[in-house]
Amino acid sequence: MKWWPAAIPTEADHGEYELIPSDERSRQQRRRERRRIRPAYVFIASACLLCSSIVLFTVDFFRLRAPRPSNDAGWLDFFKKLWPVGLPDVTDNWQNENNKAMHALMSCMVNRTCKENQTSIVLLSSEHFSHSIAGHVSGEDIWAISVLISLQEMGYTTIYAPKNEELARSYRRFPDLVKAVILEGADSKRCFDDPKCIKTLTHPLGVPVWKMFSFHFWTGAEHPLGNRWTLSPENYPVLAPGNSKDNFYLGYSIERTCVKKPFIPGDDRPMQAYILAKQLSYFTDKNYMWKGVSLVPPFPLDLVAGMRNDTKGPSSIPDGINNLGQLNQQDFYEQLSKSRVLIGIGNPRLSPRMTHWIGTVGRPSMTDSNSRSPLKEAMDHPIPRYIVPDMSMDALKYRLGVLVEGDWKTPAEEILRERKATGKGKTFEL
Ligand SMILES: *[C@@H]1O[C@H](CO)[C@@H](O)[C@H](O)[C@H]1NC(C)=O
Ligand SMILES: *[C@@H]1O[C@H](CO)[C@@H](O)[C@H](O)[C@H]1NC(C)=O
Ligand SMILES: *[C@@H]1O[C@H](CO)[C@@H](O)[C@H](O)[C@H]1NC(C)=O
Repeated sequence: MKWWPAAIPTEADHGEYELIPSDERSRQQRRRERRRIRPAYVFIASACLLCSSIVLFTVDFFRLRAPRPSNDAGWLDFFKKLWPVGLPDVTDNWQNENNKAMHALMSCMVNRTCKENQTSIVLLSSEHFSHSIAGHVSGEDIWAISVLISLQEMGYTTIYAPKNEELARSYRRFPDLVKAVILEGADSKRCFDDPKCIKTLTHPLGVPVWKMFSFHFWTGAEHPLGNRWTLSPENYPVLAPGNSKDNFYLGYSIERTCVKKPFIPGDDRPMQAYILAKQLSYFTDKNYMWKGVSLVPPFPLDLVAGMRNDTKGPSSIPDGINNLGQLNQQDFYEQLSKSRVLIGIGNPRLSPRMTHWIGTVGRPSMTDSNSRSPLKEAMDHPIPRYIVPDMSMDALKYRLGVLVEGDWKTPAEEILRERKATGKGKTFEL
């Protein structure tokens, strides 16, 4: 097809202008000739366009085929901006830890190098987990940190999500990857009643109730589905079968902290007893066990305690006790490791800090100095370092495996069926 304008004028081109005077006509003709495009120019322009497109195409082709190191580096730079890890050496910041975990997860997915369990997420919603990495040391925090360390050593991805709002937000981002949620008992009930938290027909990305487990320090059930979803720090199913027979004994381990401290053989320790009481009011509490009994034995023994004064009115330290004041963790362990015996006073009845250090004795002393008191008995028979088998890291990890990998949907289904059949109890979406 001829796409360029006709270059050679014909007679017909002029026919229509016959009425125009001749000098006028030749002026017009000159103007038209000027406007006419010469075929040579058109050809040269087209050739130039063709050449430049061939050059540009070739450049693009080779650029696409070549390895692109600069592009990869740019992409990785971009990747760093997702879940930025601001303070890599700060461990007490749960947002930062979450970003590190997400970063590791995305990297291993991209590189196909995810380790065993890494693509399984455990959401840590009880605040004791975020507190524990911030260095808090309450009994619950110590329970939390030992669970956290075990999960991480097993390769699970752990994400902190304190409070239900953060939990619901986190869960809906990767619902299928979340194997279990550990949260406070009260929060499990609150989430269950909150259509913005729990999974419902109209909120399908909510948390299914059977994936939630209550981190409950005390006995009894504290979960919308009852005892089986209530985690216990101690073996309550055995210790308190009354209301906790079906609780899930998760437990804790302080094996690592324990073995870090050199063990001082009993005979090398000073004649010292440690009295387990964190505050002065425990001596006037209704649970105090030794009312009317002197704690001072009829033989030389220093009684040491690390108590804070929590009394409002006038009070005094019981006779014979050297109060060192509230101790930090290291000083506390130091005192324990050089005590020959630990004396409990009935409150607290449980304490994770204590369990592995030294044996606890019964009645501290008798007025009759000739009778063999249990205190003397305990001091004469020092026990070597001992870790209760259920409280080793391996035992804790085993139970965590049962918790995280267990089938919790089936028993929840049974409960749901029963609730529907009896009309008792709130129903839920599985
Ligand atoms: C994949 O692995 C390489 C080498 O181990 C590492 O340099 C790179 O950062 C990883 N990729 C991502 C997206 O993290
Ligand atoms: C503890 O504090 C209260 C209130 O400040 C004070 O009255 C009391 O004497 C203190 N007890 C001891 C043993 O220091
Ligand atoms: C992964 O988890 C399972 C069960 O929870 C456990 O038995 C296994 O040892 C874990 N893998 C690693 C590498 O720790």
